[in-house]
Amino acid sequence: QAKLKASILEINRTAARFFYHTLYTPSGAAGLQYFHSRGLSDQTIKRFGLGFAPDSWDSLARYLRSKGYSPEEAQMADLLIPRRSGGHYDKFRNRVIFPIIDLRGNVIGFGGRVLDDTKPKYINTSDTMVYKKTMNLFAMNLAKNAKNGFLILAEGYMDVIAMHQAGFGNAVAALGTALTPQQARLMARYVPEVIVAGDADEAGVKAAARDIGILRDAGLKVRLLNLPDGKDPDEFIRRNGPERFQLLVEGAEGDVAYRLQVVKNRFDLTTPEGNVGYLEEAVKVLATIDNALECEIYAGRLAQELSVSRDTLLGQVRDQRRKNSRILKRQQFREIQKQTAGYTD
Ligand code: UTP
Ligand code: MN
Ligand code: MN
Ligand code: MN
Ligand code: MN
Repeated sequence: QAKLKASILEINRTAARFFYHTLYTPSGAAGLQYFHSRGLSDQTIKRFGLGFAPDSWDSLARYLRSKGYSPEEAQMADLLIPRRSGGHYDKFRNRVIFPIIDLRGNVIGFGGRVLDDTKPKYINTSDTMVYKKTMNLFAMNLAKNAKNGFLILAEGYMDVIAMHQAGFGNAVAALGTALTPQQARLMARYVPEVIVAGDADEAGVKAAARDIGILRDAGLKVRLLNLPDGKDPDEFIRRNGPERFQLLVEGAEGDVAYRLQVVKNRFDLTTPEGNVGYLEEAVKVLATIDNALECEIYAGRLAQELSVSRDTLLGQVRDQRRKNSRILKRQQFREIQKQTAGYTD
């Protein structure tokens, strides 16, 4: 088992070297050109060990064989795929390559992007003996050494790389999945705070809302980067430069302010009904804040904004808390009922 894992890691490292070196050969020119066209320097390419998988069915397969690795081993690394007719072919073809590296510096997997807008845009290593996508974060090996006291959580490979190149070495990304509790706990081992920098599109905003809860549950303070419509961090930096991005980072609001704003946007505040609706939903947000001081501060702001008394508002928050804990107890009760159902009859 341990020997098998070691040999998968060795194959991954060999493949990563192959992909990187290919960039600087004629069969990788398209990949190098692609990275340059997206504004990445050769230094950045080297730092992240980016690469190119040639437009061929078996260039990696042949290379690995020449280095003495069996196709079966490479298959366990999810680099080669068996053909029904026998033999194997390369999983990554005609794609730029993003190696995924763990905290110890092992190459544990890869992402690969097409050069145009063919679908799927990215393919990734499936889980292997050395790679569990829900347990790892892209670029955490680099970001863990950044000493800013917070991490920036983006959606994509290119966002992270663009941020690092722009001087934000504390950027990481989940790997093509929704953020998991394990990933949040991994971050919490290194920093007390995370700034969520998702894409400014519908999917990104939804994902950010989910991430807030997961990060909070891991004990992290959460702030949210407010990117203008439709952009992601990579596009923003390309268009506006690192200084403007730095301003966004500094201006990132706490998750409570963010959630209150999201709620507020849903109501027409020129009508009394709209104001009542906003207030009711805002109370629900405040009722989820564990920190009493934090809760009071936001309640005070809200009271002022809507010209109601702060004490009335806090009373409503308490009521909502009681309601929540009743609901929670009912849910827990049902869970226990379900779990013990087998024993009662
Ligand atoms: P996006 O669709 O936002 O892509 O997906 P992107 O990162 O901005 O990529 P570019 O700028 O077009 O190159 C965000 C992330 O979701 C994962 C990848 O990790 C990607 O970086 N993803 C996306 C996949 O795994 N597969 C896909 O087909 C698409
Ligand atoms: Mn160059
Ligand atoms: Mn996206
Ligand atoms: Mn992008
Ligand atoms: Mn994106």
